[in-house]
Amino acid sequence: MTTILDGKKIANEIQSEIAKEVEEIKQDGKKIPHLAAILVGDNGASQTYVNNKIKACKKVGFEYTLLQYPESIREEKLLANVDRINEDEDIDGLIVQLPLPDHISGVKVTEHISSAKDVDGFTNVNYGRITSKKPGLMPATPFGIQELLNRYEIDIKGKHCVIVGNSRNVGAPMSTIMSYHENATVTVCHIHTQDLALFTRQADILIVATGQPGLITADMVKEGVVVVDVGITRIPADNPRGYMLKGDVEFETVKFKASYITPVPGGVGPMTIASLLLNTLKATRARH
Ligand code: GUN
Repeated sequence: MTTILDGKKIANEIQSEIAKEVEEIKQDGKKIPHLAAILVGDNGASQTYVNNKIKACKKVGFEYTLLQYPESIREEKLLANVDRINEDEDIDGLIVQLPLPDHISGVKVTEHISSAKDVDGFTNVNYGRITSKKPGLMPATPFGIQELLNRYEIDIKGKHCVIVGNSRNVGAPMSTIMSYHENATVTVCHIHTQDLALFTRQADILIVATGQPGLITADMVKEGVVVVDVGITRIPADNPRGYMLKGDVEFETVKFKASYITPVPGGVGPMTIASLLLNTLKATRARH
């Protein structure tokens, strides 16, 4: 039997827990968490993601500020705005939605965020802190995946976790969390891996974050595998929206072999947002 790893449901549970804490914060007259989000340009997917983050803030009772800038904004001006938020005493967390336009360095802008307010967990300082057993602000997507697996009480210790994707913000920190925090045996594959299926077939837990829709097919996994699909790509479709969302895993065929599997959408995406809220709460507590 296959269990769907219902990220939406777990994220809702986490949001209810956070909302309760916010009520207590209010009653105690303490600082209400305040998240600021920067959105540059008019990328439809980025707009949707940021809107979902703002909606989540509203739902749990956080304060929020959305700062939108045109595609043409210069890098120095964006950096100056990040500085301003870094110095704003009322703002506890800051995210800059990626990707940024080609003339702006995403790495430079991200690294400019104060590590105390970096609730995406993207800065080098917070990346480094996952190598501590008392980490700071955890990289949001890997943290969300860890929480999802833990809340479904999936055994990780000693299991072979194969991660497909070595990106700075997902694959790389995920490998540290799974090996160092969860004691899994970890293999990291990526787009240059030769004979990818040789590795994915050995996975007890398979985490895929490549942005290549449908990369993982049923013949590439073993019976009983736990599958986590981080991919979410807009594919043109003949529907009113004009697109559909597709993960990196062929859900319809792989689900028959998996013991647990995340859907797309409704799997990892909502867990990333839940992590963002947890990090914002943590950042607020640390600062006040
Ligand atoms: N772009 C895609 N995913 C993310 C994310 O988790 N955070 C930010 N800031 N940008 C993204």
